[in-house]
Amino acid sequence: MKAVDWIDDHLRFLDQTLLPHEERFVDTRDVAVVGEAIQKLRIRGAPAIGVAAAFGIVLAAHARPAGKDETLSERIRKALTYLAGTRPTAVNLFYALERMKRVLDAGSGEPEAVLQTLLLKEAQAIQEEDVRACARIGELGSTLLGTKVSLLTHCNAGALATAGSGTALSIVTTAARQGKVIRVFVDETRPLLQGARLTAWELQKEGIPVVLITDSTAGSVLRQGNVQAVIVGADRIAANGDVANKVGTYPLAVLANRHQVPFYVAAPTSTLDPKLPDGSAIPIEERDPAEVTHFAGIRVAAQGIGVFAPAFDVTPNELVTAIVTERGILYPPFSSAIARIALTP
Ligand code: MRU
Repeated sequence: MKAVDWIDDHLRFLDQTLLPHEERFVDTRDVAVVGEAIQKLRIRGAPAIGVAAAFGIVLAAHARPAGKDETLSERIRKALTYLAGTRPTAVNLFYALERMKRVLDAGSGEPEAVLQTLLLKEAQAIQEEDVRACARIGELGSTLLGTKVSLLTHCNAGALATAGSGTALSIVTTAARQGKVIRVFVDETRPLLQGARLTAWELQKEGIPVVLITDSTAGSVLRQGNVQAVIVGADRIAANGDVANKVGTYPLAVLANRHQVPFYVAAPTSTLDPKLPDGSAIPIEERDPAEVTHFAGIRVAAQGIGVFAPAFDVTPNELVTAIVTERGILYPPFSSAIARIALTP
């Protein structure tokens, strides 16, 4: 099952807003459909967003000109700007767009067909690198776990969130194949329920025992000693190792610290943002208040109340036990290791 993929001449993605009830794939040649899908979380998860955006640029490169004077380069630059405005937090989006822009800059003198091929090759390289990164993160991360462990995760950092087998969930599935995993506690992940709808579904498909909990149950589960490691993904990691991930990750890290349970972050190097000194500089997306005031489309809060709806929070590096990347496992202090392995697009 691939959340995003290139099929011959177009993008195919799984509409994640319909899961787990319906597995509907969308085929598109329209960059606007890709942008809408990212904004609406039909495509979501940092690496998957980056891969989809790269292919979105390929689609734009093959689209009909908006007017008779629009050049290929202008059309691609418009698409770069449009896709960069879809979601602000996952740096993988900007990493992928920057790589596509560099191909455009380097190939702007080439015939259109050559440039189109170069862009497709770059998007496919970004996709393939992510597939390999996921597999390696799984291999490396599984070495951190004991022989029989129960784990806890938040949001969805699985195959649905990447081009490959996931980041946090790649560790879980690799360890499960090694016979190490007793069960995985999955936070439902309010308000959009990526844990309940996506992670629980993915793990069930893999035959891994899942225990779904409300986000506020995590404290009791940790206090009862029922979890040996917390593993989450990331949307952006600053130069000092501060981690932006789905809102609710930070309180989980505080709880893990309180109960002396290791807190692992799994992310490919395309999620590192060494330009930002610390987490305070990470742009945090704010979502539509209706996602909080409504549940499954039904209003559950009084009309007219104030709402604060950040999609992500920042976990300070001192609460992170290790960061598992495809280039190795990083331990505190993270700054020098991040500077060493971070990619420049
Ligand atoms: O809003 P979402 O569903 O895109 O948020 C996703 C997350 O927070 C994931 O944990 C993160 O992108 C890592 S995915 C490998």
